[in-house]
Order: sequence, then C-alpha cells, then structure tokens
Amino acid sequence: MNIKNNTIRSFNKVFDKKYLEIEGGELLKGNIKISGAKNSVLVLMAASILSEGQINLFNVPRISDVLIMSKILGAMGMNIKTNSNHLEINTEKISPPSQDLFFDLFHALRVSFFCIGPLLARFGKARIPLPGGCLIGSRPIDEHINSLKKFGVIFKYKNNYLSAKVTTPNKRLLGSSINFKCKSVGATETLLMAASLAKGTTTLNNAAQEPEIIDLANMLNLMGAKVKGAGSECITIEGVETLKGCDYTVMSDRIEAGTFLIAAAITRSNISLYQCEPNHLKAVINKLELCGCKFEYSKHFLRIIPNQILNSVNITTSPFPGFPTDLQAPFMALMATTNGTSEIKETVFENRMHHVKELNRMGAKITVRDNIAKVVGVNNLQGREVIGSDLRATAALALAGLSANGKTIVKGLEHLERGYENFSEKFQEIGASILKK
Ligand code: UD1
Repeated sequence: MNIKNNTIRSFNKVFDKKYLEIEGGELLKGNIKISGAKNSVLVLMAASILSEGQINLFNVPRISDVLIMSKILGAMGMNIKTNSNHLEINTEKISPPSQDLFFDLFHALRVSFFCIGPLLARFGKARIPLPGGCLIGSRPIDEHINSLKKFGVIFKYKNNYLSAKVTTPNKRLLGSSINFKCKSVGATETLLMAASLAKGTTTLNNAAQEPEIIDLANMLNLMGAKVKGAGSECITIEGVETLKGCDYTVMSDRIEAGTFLIAAAITRSNISLYQCEPNHLKAVINKLELCGCKFEYSKHFLRIIPNQILNSVNITTSPFPGFPTDLQAPFMALMATTNGTSEIKETVFENRMHHVKELNRMGAKITVRDNIAKVVGVNNLQGREVIGSDLRATAALALAGLSANGKTIVKGLEHLERGYENFSEKFQEIGASILKK
C-alpha cells in the first residue's frame, strides 16, 4: 500500500474522536507478542536517508509516528511502501526537504529533527523546522547542534526553521572527537548517523547506551558503516564514502514490554510475553521483583507472576541501564495500588508528571515536589473519565483503568496510538474489558 497524501490528516481526525472505555477488575491471562520498537524504527527510517540502495525494514510497528515519519521521508522524494509490518524505503529520488509545506509534519515528531545528521552527511546542507513531540519538558537540541558544529557545520535560525550548511571545501562532514555534556539518546543517534559518512574517524564520548543505539549501529554496519562500541559510553566510527541498502529487523519494543509487565502487576495477573528481550528490561524486572512479582524465563517467553499483595518500592529514572523515564508514569499507576508509600523521582525530563492529577482523580494519593512524587498506595482506584496528556501518561491511565472499580474513559488516544501498536486489541486478547470507541 502506498502512503497517500492526505492519510495523516484523516488519521489524526479519526484519532481525535476516539477514546478507550475500560471496565476494570478483569484478570489478564495468555500470551502477548511484543511489537517492533517505536524508538528504534523511527531512527532507522531517518538512517535510510544515508543509503544509496533500498532499505527493507521488518517488524515495523503500525503506529501513527511511523506513518508521519513515512510522510516526512516521502516529502524528501523517497518512495515508501508498507505491507503489514514491512516497510520498503526506496531512496533513488531523494532530495533535501525545502518546502515550508511540511512544517506541520516535522513539528509533529521530535525524532524528525534527527534527520539533520543524515541530511548533512548526504547533501552538505539541510533546512528543517525545530522539533515537536510529547510535551514532557523543554527538550533542548544543543547537544546535537554543538556536536555538529565540530563536524564543520554552521547553523542559522529564522522563522522556526533551522538552516545548516557544511563548510568544508568538499561539503563533506569532518569526523571529530565529541564529548557530550549529557547522555542524550537523540544526540548520540544524530551524530552516529552523521559520522558514518564523515571524513575520518569520530569518537563519541559520554554516549547514550540505550539498546536502540545498538540497533541503529547494527543497521548502519549492515549498510557498510564502520561503527564500534555501540552500547558503551564510547563509540568509534570510521567514516566511509557511501552506504548501501539492506534488510533489517527492528528490535522488540522494551517500553511496550514493560507496559504489559506493569499491566499484569497492576491487575495481579499472570501473563507471558514473547518476542521480547528480557536483558533490555533488567531495571524494570528488578523493581517488579522487589514489589513481589516473580518471573519465569524460557527460550521464547517471559512470564510474570505477581503476588496478590504487592509492596511499594522507590524508583529514580535515569538513562539506560537505569529505570526508563518512559515507564515512570505506568509504574506510578502501579504504585498507586500497592501496599505502603513509594517515592518516584524523575531525573530525565523536568515536566513529566502530568498523569498525577488524573491518577488522583481516580482516587490515587500522590503529591509532587521538585519532580519527586510521593505515592501512598490505596486499596482501590475508582473508574473516572480521564485525559492522557502524552504517550506514556495515556498508557498509565489505561493501566489504572484496568485495575479500577467500574468504568474508566481514557481520552487522548492520539497520544497512545503514536507509540503502541493495537493497544486495545492486544489487551482484549488477554482478557481485558477494553474498547476503542
Ligand atoms: C529519547 C526517546 C524518548 C525517551 C528519551 C529518554 C526516541 C525517539 N525517544 O528521546 O522516548 O524518553 O530518549 O530516554 O528515542 N538533552 C539536552 N540537550 C540535547 C538533547 C537532550 O539537554 O541536545 C537532555 C533532555 O532535555 C533530557 C535528556 O537530555 O533531559 C535526555 O534526552 P534525550 O535522550 O535526548 O531524549 P530523546 O532522544 O529526545
């Protein structure tokens, strides 16, 4: 199926009217297949800009962010075809985006900004809008910009657009040694992509270590790049002149997997996940074990078996391998139902507690000070009409609804469907009373 021009607009209009209706209290049971990782596939799609041949991505989640990213690549002349969970990206007719027409698309997705690295590497120039995405903090891009400057890039900002130009005589980025001031997934990925086609060797120090970075490095290496050390704090990239197409299977989504584990815990249900990578979930599994959940590992399955009474535990979010900020909101919903008081400290983003107000409307007892939430567990949450303000906050409210007494209406599905493939359908499969309306 070709991506049609007006697909995104009609897609969003439909989402705006949708909500989830959840009847709480059902036990979950059965097996859940974990989808391809949202945070990986979007960057792999950006990396396809670097390729002179066709990229075939497999295990692609059918989520609205992928659709928007497809439109963005389409706006650069790339031909994108989707067939179920397969994405075919043909870069034969690629050209840098220049039309202001595409502002809304770029602005809808923070990860669109990460295209700047591959665009500069491929064309020596780029003009793109500043990023949008979830409203969870100021989300600066200084690490991307300052590091690219060391590669010989100059930037100009006018009317919400950033224009960038490579100033070396042959317009080729110049590899460099970068010391990131903070661990940024996006900046590490932007520079990794840029350095793959830069002249000379680049070292990225204080690089982010998320599994999605390893996934990107693996695909780049299949395309002919020379990346070493991804997953450690120091990545070395020896630039090459061209990169070719490849077939690549997207890693499984550790955040979706974590969401289902927390859903099992909050409903005190036993479920099994397959096509998931438990090694990516160590920090989450560790905290769930401390609460009173047991885990069974087999070749293909990860099974969670929660105690009927779970205890409160404290968490502090931090870059991988720490507890992921993307699971802070779902974990807080769980802590609202456990025995005792927990402290949840958000250290990655400064404004990621919008779900607190809505959880409290459902009967939770949560107070927040200085980005630390104090959660006093209650016996039962109560079904209410609540509104999700960002992707993971909306997931957290749905999980709260699964455990609450009575009916919960969760609005804000346009956020949820950005990052979870078939969220309600998957929960229906394991016995939840959840309808998309
Ligand atoms: C990625 C994930 C997002 C996740 C986040 C942290 C994708 C598509 N999104 O977002 O789901 O929540 O990692 O795990 O992969 N920072 C700066 N300057 C910069 C860049 C970042 O100060 O130039 C700061 C941010 O404000 C934030 C921290 O670094 O406090 C981490 O942000 P970063 O890792 O860059 O997040 P994203 O890559 O945007």
